[in-house]
Amino acid sequence: MSSPGTVTIHPAGRVRGRVRLPGDKSISHRYALLAALADGSTTIHGYSTGGDCASTLACLRALGVRIDAIPRNGGAPSYRIEGRGLGGLLAPTTTLDAGNSGSTMRMLTGVLTGHPFAATLDGDVSLRRRPMRRVTVPLERMGARIASVDGRPPLTVTGTATVEPIDFQPEVPSAQVKSAILLAGLHARGITRVREGVPTRDHTERALQAFGARVDRSPDGVSLAGGQRLEGRTLHVPGDISSAAFWLAAAAGLPDSDLVLEHVGLNPTRTAILDILRRLGALVETQPGAEQAHEPVGTIRIQHHALGAAEITPAEVPGLIDELPVLAALATHGGELSVTGAGELRVKESDRISALAEGLRRLGADITERPDGFHVRGRRRLTGGVADAHGDHRLAMAFAVAALGADGPTTIRDAAAAAVSYPEFFSVLESLRA
Ligand code: S3P
Repeated sequence: MSSPGTVTIHPAGRVRGRVRLPGDKSISHRYALLAALADGSTTIHGYSTGGDCASTLACLRALGVRIDAIPRNGGAPSYRIEGRGLGGLLAPTTTLDAGNSGSTMRMLTGVLTGHPFAATLDGDVSLRRRPMRRVTVPLERMGARIASVDGRPPLTVTGTATVEPIDFQPEVPSAQVKSAILLAGLHARGITRVREGVPTRDHTERALQAFGARVDRSPDGVSLAGGQRLEGRTLHVPGDISSAAFWLAAAAGLPDSDLVLEHVGLNPTRTAILDILRRLGALVETQPGAEQAHEPVGTIRIQHHALGAAEITPAEVPGLIDELPVLAALATHGGELSVTGAGELRVKESDRISALAEGLRRLGADITERPDGFHVRGRRRLTGGVADAHGDHRLAMAFAVAALGADGPTTIRDAAAAAVSYPEFFSVLESLRA
């Protein structure tokens, strides 16, 4: 680190070794939320070490949930969460701080819909810019009253003891919206149904089943009967494939690289990144292990091979949304990548299309911005330079992956943002240089 929050990355010849990832961020949030609503206590091993998942725990504590960290030698702590039962959260005496976490804010708004008290959810400057109507519209139909600042946080949610089930198709494919509706629907009398034109990650469905709930799934959606009690249990969170994506991209981009990623979540709604890496030329093998709580887990091995070109179509975007910045970074190593139908990137932790294009261009990349995507041509090597992560964890890490293939060093401003999902990222990076 050169100054607080700023990191300098030197080029690397190759990356080699074995990596264990932090626990999956999406699954960690869901296990914590469902544990809080369950009967009895839940122990979660491998909970994400990122700041976003800490925000979820802090909000749950403010809602009266007892959560104890159980230290573990040389690893992330486990957590024991004492469930309060369905509808059993307590009115908070402070504002709930979701920090940088859209997942915390959106999913918790669904949970609060089933609690007849008022609670205010707020977040950092980035979260305050993010659209919330996608959850407030369906949740208001279910009976919540939600005040916002023109559809943005802070949100003041007044829930109800009589949640109405709905049958709803979100306008934007979004697992957060689907999950918020299902979590509210758990408190409803009757069947709540969420329809999906394009499938999104299904961790909520799998987690509900892990806690003993019955969820009915069909190719076009999911439905759930309200009033089902959840049972506390012991859970292991698999490694986060979206964090793995940075190492996969580094190995795919740097000649002679060979990495093994252990205990990674291989849920099919998250593995599209592996298909794209193969399409770009990388040699990728997966070794499935035993499922854990309905979530597939396994080992991934990746070896470098000459990069080619790939085009990502709009239908593929929901399965890859968090990996698009690092795929753009990978394409700067000599490949070519064209993405359309990804306008959602503009309302993530930053405007990920303009901030990505600006940062990569500063490092010498040939990237064209589109209203709903981008086009990277990696014919010339990057020079290195100064890129600004704009407080966005995935951009900080994507710029680091691009920087590994540059001729000179790169300074990343606001790199401390990586801690939102992967606090260990920069130290792991140094350990993989070979
Ligand atoms: C997430 C869903 C996605 C993703 C986010 C995590 C989740 O967001 O980008 O990082 O855990 O459900 P959207 O639901 O807005 O697509």
